[in-house]
Amino acid sequence: MRLSVFGIGYVGCVSAACFANEGHEVIAVDVNQAKVQIINQGNSPIVEAGIGELISDVVKSGRLRATTNSQEAVKNSDISLVCVGTPSNPNGSLDLRYVKRVCEEIGAALKTRTAGHVVVIRSTMLPGTIENTVMPALEKHSGKKAGKDFGVCINPEFLREGTSLKDFYAPAFTLLGADHPEIAAIVPQLYQNIEAPVFITSVKTAEMVKYASNCFHALKVSFANEIGNICKALNIDSHEVMKIFCEDTKLNLSSYYLKPGFAFGGSCLPKDLRAINYKAKELDVEVPVLAAILPSNRNQIERALDLVIGWGKKRIGVLGFSFKAGTDDLRESPMVTLIETLIGKGYELAIYDRDVSLGRLFGANKEYIERGIPHISQLMRDSLQEVVEDSEVLLIGNKAAEFFELESYLRADQVVIDLVRLFEGRTSDERYRGICW
Ligand SMILES: NC(=O)c1ccc[n+]([C@@H]2O[C@H](COP(=O)([O-])OP(=O)(O)OC[C@H]3O[C@@H](n4cnc5c(N)ncnc54)[C@H](O)[C@@H]3O)[C@@H](O)[C@H]2O)c1
Repeated sequence: MRLSVFGIGYVGCVSAACFANEGHEVIAVDVNQAKVQIINQGNSPIVEAGIGELISDVVKSGRLRATTNSQEAVKNSDISLVCVGTPSNPNGSLDLRYVKRVCEEIGAALKTRTAGHVVVIRSTMLPGTIENTVMPALEKHSGKKAGKDFGVCINPEFLREGTSLKDFYAPAFTLLGADHPEIAAIVPQLYQNIEAPVFITSVKTAEMVKYASNCFHALKVSFANEIGNICKALNIDSHEVMKIFCEDTKLNLSSYYLKPGFAFGGSCLPKDLRAINYKAKELDVEVPVLAAILPSNRNQIERALDLVIGWGKKRIGVLGFSFKAGTDDLRESPMVTLIETLIGKGYELAIYDRDVSLGRLFGANKEYIERGIPHISQLMRDSLQEVVEDSEVLLIGNKAAEFFELESYLRADQVVIDLVRLFEGRTSDERYRGICW
């Protein structure tokens, strides 16, 4: 394929060199004349292991050249990859001026173009940027319609500086956000020799995955550093701690605990967070990430409360209130906090949780249920149906198997608030609200 690559920074340089190496005909475009010259001389404008040799090879073979002339580049290519910078403005917002400028230039070139063209954004951009900035600039300057006269999609780059060539050829996955199936079919052809799964999704989802990834990477670094700082103060080898920590690929380094939903609770996490934060204070070690976790968790309970209040109905049926299905443990259950707040605000509650009901009869928590939360215990009903009959709003608090049948009992006037994503793939609508979907 014939590609133009806009922006000869890290991402543009690696993309241009690697796609040329894959046999594509690549024109790299930059406003910086010096970078253009460096490429055309067969050298690399960036310092990166292996890139100098690669650029020398592909320039010699004629598969890569560079120019400052964006019009000529678009005219002679089928796909434009946009790799320009998206830095921060002084207030932290995203500076989109380079993206806008490039889209205006590509748009102007598309004005006179009769053959099809696909604009692939590789720069990191917040969700909604393609829709609100990229498409309008392209459409305005081309006089044409995105999705009809030309294609637009996003293919975020996940390379790391220092190992970018290795990352390019061995990514975890290739991600493509495209709202039109024809476009979604074209771009994966660029990656046909790369062995990695290709995920095709909506434009906004792909835009967001990139931010979720970078935020998580940053969180991991700060988390490890804070644990390291506490370790040092306690004369413990932080690297040994984290090495063993990383051996747990079931809970620690895994997809476990990474599903958006309700607050955590239970007998361990809240108390252990409190203890380590207290210890850090004693040691004079600042741990802003660890200190932010419990407040963030409380926020999620507030969010659920706001959802209930938002419906404006008074009779609430709670389905599941132990911190997870299959247990009757109610210690620090965020559902108990939510229920108590609702009772305090005058809501009428009917509650069903099979495991807690059994626990009330003969479980280890019998005493806690009877003495610790008698006000909640007396609101408990014996079946799912009883709760549904008495309620205007159904609040789902855990994923007990029987709750999957809920829809068959619901009346047309009832609404559901889901804190656990009981119904896979369902998004909020007139009768259903998910806490974060
Ligand atoms: N650097 C990384 O490791 C990395 C990794 C993944 C994603 N990203 C994202 O990729 C994007 C690019 O990052 P980078 O570090 O390669 O950027 P960079 O700042 O190193 O390079 C951007 C290039 O774009 C050029 N440019 C600006 N306006 C132009 C125009 N109108 N026409 C042509 N060229 C133009 C600049 O001259 C510069 O050479 C950013 O959104 C970044 O967040 C970066």
